[in-house]
Amino acid sequence: MKARGERICCLTVYDYSFAHMLDRAGVEILLVGDSLGMVIQGHPTTLPVSLDDAVYHTQCVARGCENALLIADMPFGSFQGDPQSAFDSAARLMGEGQAHMVKIEGGAVMAETVAFLVDRGVPVCGHLGLTPQSVNQLGGFRVQGRQESVADRLRQDAQSLQNAGASVLVLEAVPSGLAKEITQGLTIPTIGIGAGPDTDGQVLVLYDLLGIYPQKSPKFSKNFLDGAGSVSGAVQAFIEDVRSGQFPGPEHSF
Ligand code: KIV
Repeated sequence: MKARGERICCLTVYDYSFAHMLDRAGVEILLVGDSLGMVIQGHPTTLPVSLDDAVYHTQCVARGCENALLIADMPFGSFQGDPQSAFDSAARLMGEGQAHMVKIEGGAVMAETVAFLVDRGVPVCGHLGLTPQSVNQLGGFRVQGRQESVADRLRQDAQSLQNAGASVLVLEAVPSGLAKEITQGLTIPTIGIGAGPDTDGQVLVLYDLLGIYPQKSPKFSKNFLDGAGSVSGAVQAFIEDVRSGQFPGPEHSF
């Protein structure tokens, strides 16, 4: 799709019924995000999500997923220690959970782990920019890459992850121009969230798209249920706006 210039639609999802709906609507990637810690479990961050939680929700989603690529997030603590423990966690998400790919947060420091996983048959999606598992180091859920030194590190991290064998890269809350530059410099597709209109695809947290998360939504999210009339109408509106390039506009970008 990247080579053809077709934009990729991705949504987070945590259960069978929504997975079935999104999959049949034509969403190309279903992501069992560790955002489940916030929108499903009600925690203020993603940090308390356990590997058992991630396996359970991936199993639920897998039962509704027929066509889409199913990516499961590796929760905090399940992959950072060393490559072997990352493999053990990924094996559970793929074996018990039926995920097709796992997502890990972090840049060059994770390259060895990414290569270890890829060499052993585990497709990997990277995640750079605002990496929520590092919220306590980042000082909050903040845009990343406005300073040139940080932007430069993100450019290098993206190349490191691609060189290590990552298949996809999520870019979260980074300035549009930087996301465009990183996207153009990679052969693997980028999926943006708060990263402007020029990434190869877009992802939103499903509960933000539906406007049902009771806490403050990030500037980059959009309530697609407003005016859509139904949940499936909201999902269809997201797909159409991503494919046509209407979403995200400047009001949802940095
Ligand atoms: O956990 C999640 O939902 C994510 C997306 C926001 C990319 O990582």
